[in-house]
Amino acid sequence: MSIVIHQYAFGDAGTFTVEQENVGEPGPGEVRLRQRAIGVNYIDLAFRSGAIAGNGFPRTIGLEAAGDVEAVGPGVTAFTVGDRVTYTSAPGANAEKRLIPASSLLRLPDGVTYEQGAAMTAKGLTAGALITKAYPVGEGDVIVVHAAAGGVGSLLVRWAKIAGAVVIGTVGSGAKVAAAEANGADHVYALDSGEDVVAGIERMTNGRGADAVFDGVGRDTVGLSLRAVAADGTVALFGGASGPPALDTELISGKRITVVQPSLDSMLPGQEQRQSLLDEMFRLVVAGDLGGPAVTTYPLRDVARAHRDLESRRTTGSLVLTV
Ligand SMILES: NC(=O)c1ccc[n+]([C@@H]2O[C@H](COP(=O)([O-])OP(=O)(O)OC[C@H]3O[C@@H](n4cnc5c(N)ncnc54)[C@H](OP(=O)(O)O)[C@@H]3O)[C@@H](O)[C@H]2O)c1
Repeated sequence: MSIVIHQYAFGDAGTFTVEQENVGEPGPGEVRLRQRAIGVNYIDLAFRSGAIAGNGFPRTIGLEAAGDVEAVGPGVTAFTVGDRVTYTSAPGANAEKRLIPASSLLRLPDGVTYEQGAAMTAKGLTAGALITKAYPVGEGDVIVVHAAAGGVGSLLVRWAKIAGAVVIGTVGSGAKVAAAEANGADHVYALDSGEDVVAGIERMTNGRGADAVFDGVGRDTVGLSLRAVAADGTVALFGGASGPPALDTELISGKRITVVQPSLDSMLPGQEQRQSLLDEMFRLVVAGDLGGPAVTTYPLRDVARAHRDLESRRTTGSLVLTV
């Protein structure tokens, strides 16, 4: 028997139930995983509340985890028992053990811990794809990253610094400025400070504005993003932590802004591309160049506390459930 987190109805973090289940044997093309660390992502809140619809209860949310292959089903040749793996984009992660298609798995490189895998697979692949595909960040680019102390934000700041960018971070409150600075941001604005962020960015860029803005906050920051970006610049709207963004189309066309709304699936559709970027990211981590984002761990049984912390904006870095 192993621990599983069930929900019998959509709702707040109080709807989680800790239960035991017998996972059974993997079917064709599947493996059974003994998970060790499970990533908590902002989008989990939407799967939990029902903002992203899903069918059937009881249901188990969570998209990302790292662990060991415990059994392989018929036809699985790419993985064997004992392999260390990680994955994202596969609903049902909030469990000690699970069945999963082998085609969803990525190899966890040597020297990388399960916690690092769970903290950085979804968020790191997203950050890496954003700065290479949504807007290829180059040496000397000035970029803005919102929620620069958060999960994806921390990795965006760190990876963009390696690419040679000048990184301006924003955070929701003064309490998170130090965390964003620790990620390497060159300048950090606390959005509750009343400072004129657009004027500040214009001063830093001789009136031009930022080459690109990476905005995972959405409704509350999209106006700032469109004003802070340079004419002909790019705004990547990759999430809506505060709600969906409303677009000022006049401003967009007036400044000839390229607005992209990329998903991880659209940027990295295949496992081969994901594995290659994951390997590159963990090569940088193991070499000490990327550094890890701050990781806060919770026992899997305390998933409700992790959700409450994430939605109340108390967290920095990545949240990981251990089991
Ligand atoms: N496009 C994709 O494929 C993709 C993949 C992964 C993640 N995402 C998106 O990337 C964003 C970041 O994800 P994450 O998992 O790394 O989360 P996170 O950044 O660790 O947490 C969300 C952050 O958003 C900020 N925020 C602003 N307004 C908020 C509000 N009203 N309520 C709660 N938080 C608010 C908070 O930072 P401050 O307090 O500093 O404002 C909070 O810490 C999310 O929008 C997520 O959906 C998209």
